[in-house]
Amino acid sequence: MSTVPEGYNWDVLLSWGDPLFSKGTPFDHATRGSGESQELAFGDNNDGMSFFPLPNGRAVMAVNNEYANLEWLYPNDIEAKTAEDVRKSKAAHGISVFEVEQRDGKWQVVLDAPRNRRITADTPMEITGPAAGHDLLKTPADPTGTVALGTWNNCGNGKTPWGTYLTCEENFNGYFATDSDYTPTAAQKRYGVKTTDRGTQWYRHDDRFDVAKSPNEPNRFGYIVEINPMDPNSTPMKRTALGRFKHENAEVAVAENGHVVVYLGDDERGEHLYRLVSRDRYTRGNDPANTNLLEHGTLYVARFDYTGDDLSGRGEWLELTFGKNGLTPENGFNSQAEILIHARQAATQVGATTMDRPEWVAAHPNRVEAYCALTNNKNRGVKKNGGGIAQTIGGPNPREKNNYGQIVRWRPDGQDHTAETFSWDLYVMAGNPNVHTDSLYAGSANVNAANMFNSPDGLAFDSDGRLWIQSDGNYGNEGDFAGMGNNQMLCGNPETGEIRRFLTGPIACEITGISFTPDSRTMFVGVQHPGEKKKPSHFPGGGDTVPRSSVVTITKNDGGVIGS
Ligand code: FEO
Ligand code: CA
Ligand code: CA
Repeated sequence: MSTVPEGYNWDVLLSWGDPLFSKGTPFDHATRGSGESQELAFGDNNDGMSFFPLPNGRAVMAVNNEYANLEWLYPNDIEAKTAEDVRKSKAAHGISVFEVEQRDGKWQVVLDAPRNRRITADTPMEITGPAAGHDLLKTPADPTGTVALGTWNNCGNGKTPWGTYLTCEENFNGYFATDSDYTPTAAQKRYGVKTTDRGTQWYRHDDRFDVAKSPNEPNRFGYIVEINPMDPNSTPMKRTALGRFKHENAEVAVAENGHVVVYLGDDERGEHLYRLVSRDRYTRGNDPANTNLLEHGTLYVARFDYTGDDLSGRGEWLELTFGKNGLTPENGFNSQAEILIHARQAATQVGATTMDRPEWVAAHPNRVEAYCALTNNKNRGVKKNGGGIAQTIGGPNPREKNNYGQIVRWRPDGQDHTAETFSWDLYVMAGNPNVHTDSLYAGSANVNAANMFNSPDGLAFDSDGRLWIQSDGNYGNEGDFAGMGNNQMLCGNPETGEIRRFLTGPIACEITGISFTPDSRTMFVGVQHPGEKKKPSHFPGGGDTVPRSSVVTITKNDGGVIGS
């Protein structure tokens, strides 16, 4: 970390390649490890994470390892990857689960703890929910359409009140390719499935990544996966009820009537904001029925309404249910399973609002309102979205070629997260008041020279209702971005709108992933891809070490609540 505020301290909890088991090997800066060592170690590019306290004073952490920095994963710039290279890269993806305990006042990883586990791009998972077993999910290797291997590009996360971890499959499409003569279908194109490899070359060593040989394989990714972090032998469940798209995070709110609402962003230019309302109700405590709450529910997508240049308005959740809102065979939707597998197309059909890349959603812990980071969108007002819909300028997406991003907030009617209508406004429009005088690009009134940022992405509330904002943007610090510096984390007050810069990350990183101890006295923050694209970072080791994505702990020197 380059800086935390005065009165705070930070430490590294663990970094890419640190072993979780004593039979692993310490990270080797020369080789950057092997397939075998990586399978026993923390993955690369940590992102969303959750902290689950245990009765014995320890805790289990589940941390996403979104993707691998291929420019650092291998010691040389390898063009043709061997089977061993691919093994290592697959193992750098997925989720790391491990126990932590406090020693000498610091949280540290417990090697060989009973719940330590690596989940990778090859770990067996069950496809569950309304789409399980559908023809579109059947492949040569899995004619049942119910058993998928692995998860990758796990971006943000969610945590359920019944103690499970939700991991969100985002840019799953970028791992498929083929050398055969193959034209992706229109449905594959909507999800960005192409025939050209984007660097990993998994398709050369595993036929399921060859889209000509296994064209349905991409349909088995793009889901929310539910993991029980307490049982290292449990099978991760791909919950198809939450739809298939490029999932950012999964923010869980329990409505007063007991139904569980999960807010879901689809991070692509001009895609949409969704929610699931569970069919069944949550019961407090360890009722085993809770474990299936995400199996059944109604998926909705948001339409934001507005008048003229207004930066606030009304909105409605549009139901994505077979037989409703034009989701019928005449329009190409033959079942609920098809609607879920092709959720983007269903959202287009019902008239959802094209958004400026919905990233994390955060629900206020004490008020019925939720926030979504709309990170940026260079195509706003310029290009249609993947569904051929114009990306109109206005409402919650008010700027053409939006390179700064904004945070939209909505309040469900009747203070009920299951209500079908809501009011919305913008909590902040990022901008640069030093460079622009035009109020739209200078940013909203709560943006100033001391807190400028671009591309809000990670978003989470602490238990007191502070809104933590993490950025994944342009860190060039010049032109439109002059004065913003490296990616950062800010703290916002939802009542007053005030936003203050809290920490600044190292060179060429993104700050993403956040979790707290229950007493809010330790905060866990992710520093992802420091030194990406071979930028000059040696975080966190210093000297001439390889830069490594890391989880850091932040504490206050007086032991107080972070942000207080
Ligand atoms: Fe993985 Fe949309 O960030
Ligand atoms: Ca993100
Ligand atoms: Ca992002």
